[in-house]
Amino acid sequence: MSTDGPLVLGIETSCDETGVGLVRGSVLLANEIASSVDEQARFGGVVPEVASRAHLEAIAPALDRACADAGVRLGEIDAIAVTAGPGLVGALLVGVAAAKALAVGLGIPVYGVNHLAGHVVVDELEHGRLPDPVIGLLVSGGHSSLLLVTDDAATIEPLGQTLDDAAGEAFDKVARLLGLPFPGGPWIDRAALDGDPEAIAFPRGLSAPGDLAQHPYDFSFSGLKSAVARWVRAREAAAEPVPVADVAASCQEAIADVLTAKAVAACRDRGVRDLVLGGGVAANSRLRAMAQERCAAAGLALRVPSPGLCTDNGAMIAALGARLAAAGVPPSGLDFATTSTMSVTRSSW
Ligand code: KG4
Ligand code: ZN
Repeated sequence: MSTDGPLVLGIETSCDETGVGLVRGSVLLANEIASSVDEQARFGGVVPEVASRAHLEAIAPALDRACADAGVRLGEIDAIAVTAGPGLVGALLVGVAAAKALAVGLGIPVYGVNHLAGHVVVDELEHGRLPDPVIGLLVSGGHSSLLLVTDDAATIEPLGQTLDDAAGEAFDKVARLLGLPFPGGPWIDRAALDGDPEAIAFPRGLSAPGDLAQHPYDFSFSGLKSAVARWVRAREAAAEPVPVADVAASCQEAIADVLTAKAVAACRDRGVRDLVLGGGVAANSRLRAMAQERCAAAGLALRVPSPGLCTDNGAMIAALGARLAAAGVPPSGLDFATTSTMSVTRSSW
């Protein structure tokens, strides 16, 4: 771990978490998160305008708390990194406007960075420099991708991605079908603890031999969601109780099975010996355990951040900014835009 290097402030507002992190070198000093998830829960999903307004209220207090936690003053910060995309444009704008204002006020550089690259690089705060090459399995509410990360994390090549729903979206939709709160992933994880993962054989998308040949590293979760909906409706039509724990465990098993099988296959096919997980779904206990088992069996080394660093946070953006600053990457200037669809191949503006 490096305790020298620039002191970098990271700001994350791409969805419903207002995250402010402080990192020096590769040392995490503060990771403040304010979430509007309780306000979103009554709508059963993230309402962009609600998220933007919540960021506006949360950002200044979160910044104060992060500085207090880290024991630093604003004037000591060397550079700022902020999520420029992908994400909800109105939500991104709040973080980007705050970052630019701070950069002007403090006279320091600002990096507009990629949220997805942050989910991969955050692991370095706990486990040191990422190996080169490494394959990243990035699974969140908006993305499910297999990424080949090379050139010391400077180059990210997408190997595959979801063709429909993201893994987190599948968790959230199934949770909704089961009457569990939003966001559903953590609730499915908890409910599954009391269930039988083999109770119901839910489909594994794009895993039949023909599909595998055409889409070896792509995912599809919309069929799973429909299968769960049909299964639950059939039970309700027959006036039978829905075994929530068994449905949760079986569905979680199907998602973890496909994600880990394809991730291990990508490592094997590309001759890469290290796999890193990232994104909110990487907090899932079954996914973490299955990835561990399968990587061990395949002779691969697995790196997984703590659950609190898997879900959206400011530390991951600060970590990416610190890496860019240390590598001498030029800052973004003040005229960079927010991009809802920023490609993962681009770490910063
Ligand atoms: O990375 P993230 O915090 O935000 C996005 O960039 O999307 O991911 C949020 C997603 C949600 O769909 C949430 O249900 C899921 O991550 N998630 C989980 C768990 N914790 C969060 N899914 C399964 N198991 C969990 N323990
Ligand atoms: Zn995310």
